[in-house]
Amino acid sequence: MPYVWSPILETGHEKVDEQHRQLFNALNNIVVAYREKRGSQEIIKTLFFLTNYTVMHFSTEEELMLKFNYPDYDAHKKNHEDFKVTVLEFMQKFQDEGPSEDLIVNVTSAVGDWLLSHIRVDDKKMASYVLEKADNQG
Ligand SMILES: [Fe+2]
Ligand SMILES: [Fe+2]
Repeated sequence: MPYVWSPILETGHEKVDEQHRQLFNALNNIVVAYREKRGSQEIIKTLFFLTNYTVMHFSTEEELMLKFNYPDYDAHKKNHEDFKVTVLEFMQKFQDEGPSEDLIVNVTSAVGDWLLSHIRVDDKKMASYVLEKADNQG
């Protein structure tokens, strides 16, 4: 699998980490569906799942940030919004062109690379702030 979860991606926030693991699963399910030559509709379903799960995950993080008055909320939220646009553009392409090897490679590497760098930098920073605040509130 091109993108696998690794402990280095652990933010320490249980719910966030669980959702990140699911995102990697969703990403790999797209590749598996394609390799197993399932029909276009099946492949598009795995993409829909990834898209919906991404949107849900971003809301979880945004609620957390708001709850704890995270100072970098605006920048983090903007990264999420920009990425949602990228994912939706891929979805549109899939619907217009149908799944092709090129498109699968493009979408999984774009999403995978984005997730890896976003989790390692932005999400870790956010999670450590949130966890510290939560600790202080007892
Ligand atoms: Fe995030
Ligand atoms: Fe995240």
